[in-house]
Amino acid sequence: MATDRTAVIGFPVDHSLSPIIHNHWIKELGLDTKPYEKINVDPNKFEEQINNLKAEGYGGLNVTVPLKELAFSISDETSGVSKKLKSVNTLSLNSEKINGDNTDAVGFINSLDEKTIENNIANKKTLVLGAGGSARSVVHALNELGGHVRLFNRTLEKARILLDDLSINSSPVGAEELDDYANSSSFIVNTTSLGQKAGEHNNILRFENIEMETFIYDLIYNPKRSSFLEQAEAKGLKVQNGLRMLIEQAACSFQIWHEIKVGVSEELMSLLESV
Ligand code: ATR
Repeated sequence: MATDRTAVIGFPVDHSLSPIIHNHWIKELGLDTKPYEKINVDPNKFEEQINNLKAEGYGGLNVTVPLKELAFSISDETSGVSKKLKSVNTLSLNSEKINGDNTDAVGFINSLDEKTIENNIANKKTLVLGAGGSARSVVHALNELGGHVRLFNRTLEKARILLDDLSINSSPVGAEELDDYANSSSFIVNTTSLGQKAGEHNNILRFENIEMETFIYDLIYNPKRSSFLEQAEAKGLKVQNGLRMLIEQAACSFQIWHEIKVGVSEELMSLLESV
């Protein structure tokens, strides 16, 4: 579907990096389309505002917090993964209907290199910290990659609900069991927001006895090195932040709208790292 006007919607959306990413590709490819924008959409007037944007000629919208579940509920047709996650981050609007997709899980998968999937995830013990919206995509992705996924969350009940919702045959990790399970995990990913605010320290895990082969991932990309990754790096573990996932999920949305496969160049990575 050729799309003339695209944007990210959120509440608030001011700090989104998506315009930099999409406009980089629009410019690089010389597409004859308007610049990708960011638009605040009030959750209380969601459907009305989406219809207004559709009338104004917006054909593609990325959806960020806290609107992903609402986007799912107003979509006429949704992809399999959106149905599974009950969440939509990519809307395609045309005169007949609204299509909803979710590129977060595939964005996470595409952010990983083959070796990490093979050595640290497939048939291995993996641990997810957090049970919010982004944890859903990550748990789904790890399960698809053949990882044995367990998750820890401050509020245990939310972890249980997440696993039930995704029909994953696993159990939440209780606080008393956390260090032991982490020490036997090959892949650990933080999806909590802890460490995003200045001065905030993610002290959920003790890194003392984590195996040297364990891969540590944090969805946080600002700061570039979160306190979680700093602790892992200090121990010499392999680490990755969430920037590549952000770009990869954007690339999948871009492909849905413009039918062009775009890559993640070093130039784009440095552009975003310098923001
Ligand atoms: P997102 O959409 O980014 O996943 P979210 O849905 O608000 O955001 O989820 C935030 C996650 O971070 C939750 O798992 C939350 O834990 P609770 O479910 O117990 O609220 C977790 N989180 C936020 N602040 C935290 C903190 N200070 N310590 C531990 N976990 C925290």
